[in-house]
Amino acid sequence: MKGVILHGGTGTRLRPLTYSDVKQLLTIAGKPTSEYGLEQMRQIGIKDLSIVIGAVGGEEVKKYYGNGDKWECKIQYVYQEKPLGIANAISLCRDITGPDDFLVYLGDNVIQDSLGDAYEKFQSKKYDAFLILVPVKDPSKYGVAEIGNDLVTGLKEKPRDPTSNLAVTGIYFLRETVYDYIDKLKPSARGEYEIMEALQAMIEDGKKIGYKTVGGWFKDTGTVEDFIECNMLVLESIKGNSSSDRTNVKGRVNFGKDVIIDQETKVLGPCYIGSNVQIKNSFIGPYTSIGDGCIIQGIEIENSIIMENCKIDFEDGRIIYESIIGPKCNIKSGNSKTRRTKLVLGRDSKVEL
Ligand code: G1P
Repeated sequence: MKGVILHGGTGTRLRPLTYSDVKQLLTIAGKPTSEYGLEQMRQIGIKDLSIVIGAVGGEEVKKYYGNGDKWECKIQYVYQEKPLGIANAISLCRDITGPDDFLVYLGDNVIQDSLGDAYEKFQSKKYDAFLILVPVKDPSKYGVAEIGNDLVTGLKEKPRDPTSNLAVTGIYFLRETVYDYIDKLKPSARGEYEIMEALQAMIEDGKKIGYKTVGGWFKDTGTVEDFIECNMLVLESIKGNSSSDRTNVKGRVNFGKDVIIDQETKVLGPCYIGSNVQIKNSFIGPYTSIGDGCIIQGIEIENSIIMENCKIDFEDGRIIYESIIGPKCNIKSGNSKTRRTKLVLGRDSKVEL
């Protein structure tokens, strides 16, 4: 089986972070969201991968994943000129997937469960496609599935009046047949070629679409709130690697290499602290990811993501909460009297608080 990771889209709901960074390369616990998908694919043995990149930030994606050596797989890149939707992105991979089955993964989707079970079911050859479904409170934000007799019986993209609470995750096991249905699509009201419409046409043609409902959590990290919640869920399942001589660390914390934390600092897990981080006189956690190379002083940070190489420097113990701070930001004391601050900052921002 081959793998396809979609890395397109402009990420408008994650602005300002996505003005400067590719949405799917934004990190949670030091890892881009799309890398969680790549690891899932590697876990079920997929070694031959394509990443579909768009006009925005494609070079950064290539730079990060390279030829795939680091993940012991082969990665090639496919260019999607315009953001014409998931089905359009998939159709560009036709020559690469050829007659093989393939797994498509949206780079902003993160899922807890392993895909092993779904993979085996799809391999049984009983299905023409296989979907991963998840019950959600707000189905109209997603593709929605109706089910019956162990099969998907209907699919609709973001219906106004959903007929079930089962969202279709951006993880699709597909076969060559799907291309014939994608070819017949017309752009939807949002101007995209919808994979939901191609799969619905397959159902109407008597093709069999199987499904598995996820047991664990699923997150589409497309909004600030969802991104922060995904960070929380990922950290909830980390194991922690703190050595016992770090007496000021409580709970599960994953540390990278060469982290320096002074005695006035407390870290309360679950947290992720990347390599070469220095922290003084601060309280970190819970549910906080700090990227490589950050230098932090005099601050409490909770339920937040601080990406790599940020400098945060306060003298008077402020609190940053439910925030996403993009790479290389510089935040320092100013004249503000506000003690608790919630921020969403894009790369290289400079802020005095
Ligand atoms: C896309 C798909 C939708 C799916 C969702 C999962 O939505 O169109 O069917 O449920 O991903 O994350 P979008 O991210 O374009 O809103």
